[in-house]
Amino acid sequence: MPPYRKLGSVPRKRHTAHRHEPGFRGEGIYYEEVLTTAGFGRAYTICYHLRPPTRVRTVEPAGAVAIETVAEPVLRHHQLRTLKLKPTGDPVSGRVPLLVNDDVIMSRCRPVEPQRELYRNSTADEVVFIHRGRGTLHTIFGPLPFRPFDYVVIPRCTTYRLELEGDGEMLVLEAAGNVVIPAKYLNADGQLRLGAPYSERDLHGPQETVVVDREQDTTVLVKDGRRLTRYTMAHHPFDVVGWDGLVYPFTFNADDFEPITGTVHQPPPVQQTFDAPGFVVCTFAPRMLDTHPEAIKVPYAHSNVQADEVLYYVRGHFGSRRGVEEASLTLHPRGVPHGPHPGTIVASRSMTRTDELAVMVDTVRPLALTRQALEFDDADYPYSWME
Ligand SMILES: [Fe+2]
Repeated sequence: MPPYRKLGSVPRKRHTAHRHEPGFRGEGIYYEEVLTTAGFGRAYTICYHLRPPTRVRTVEPAGAVAIETVAEPVLRHHQLRTLKLKPTGDPVSGRVPLLVNDDVIMSRCRPVEPQRELYRNSTADEVVFIHRGRGTLHTIFGPLPFRPFDYVVIPRCTTYRLELEGDGEMLVLEAAGNVVIPAKYLNADGQLRLGAPYSERDLHGPQETVVVDREQDTTVLVKDGRRLTRYTMAHHPFDVVGWDGLVYPFTFNADDFEPITGTVHQPPPVQQTFDAPGFVVCTFAPRMLDTHPEAIKVPYAHSNVQADEVLYYVRGHFGSRRGVEEASLTLHPRGVPHGPHPGTIVASRSMTRTDELAVMVDTVRPLALTRQALEFDDADYPYSWME
């Protein structure tokens, strides 16, 4: 979780009456809501609304998100060339699911229209990696600006509107479990360790509360699993005057990742950025290459034993790969070797640094391709290691 944060007006003691500021609508209190994780067991935030957050006028079915996985006849490597993804929908409806298991759904999104209505994922934390574009995530916590190469981490049950300034392009991860800072980076006091690849200063939360005081029916599209439900609230839900706690959306920019390098190749866990049950998110950031005079500066071949490995290529030249393009996703599944492409070991010998930027998602459980993923699949990729 990001560090404790407090914005706006909160009472001196929790669970006590937070009275209106003098002159605001006469006598009255703000309505406390406790936003928790893991029931009441883990991180929480306490916020104060103008109106009770429970004023629901109607609850209506709104369909379901269609995710159709395909049964593949063989186990093989994939490259999904999603550079040619057709722009569609809005930042929520335009998501195209590609790789799926019970722990994570990976989608690409290139929206063409503004978000139609407020949205809330009630059963998944979301990590929205901004490949292109900038904008603002609007929530009860206040506006959160984002820019290219930001991971925007949105805790489950956060009602939001993702506003883009112009075009945008994203990789979206929906996590069934909680997305957290890896425990190995935290000291016993909960602070990011000296030597961790990022620090609290690199995590950016909302800077101010913005209160929408609007007694007007407002719809919220709620997703739980694949089901969609449309709630009509009797007021706009972004009416929070203050909050404090550890649960809030935040950004972390991939270019703020401080890579750990060595005399010889370091394994992927040094690039871990976030942790979630069943998968990890890693950042391959621009870095110095290995300094041993005989170092092989691209990763060794390996078979992803008990793991599926997905790389999303963001920017730059990827030293160990030939023929991958920006916005491609490769899936190197469990149990079959992959490694540097022919010629890349020699080509890297004289290099001292790499400018590559990629996001890696390693899962414990096997991933399935969706029907949509097949449209982008490069059938020749498994043979791309032949001279
Ligand atoms: Fe690998």
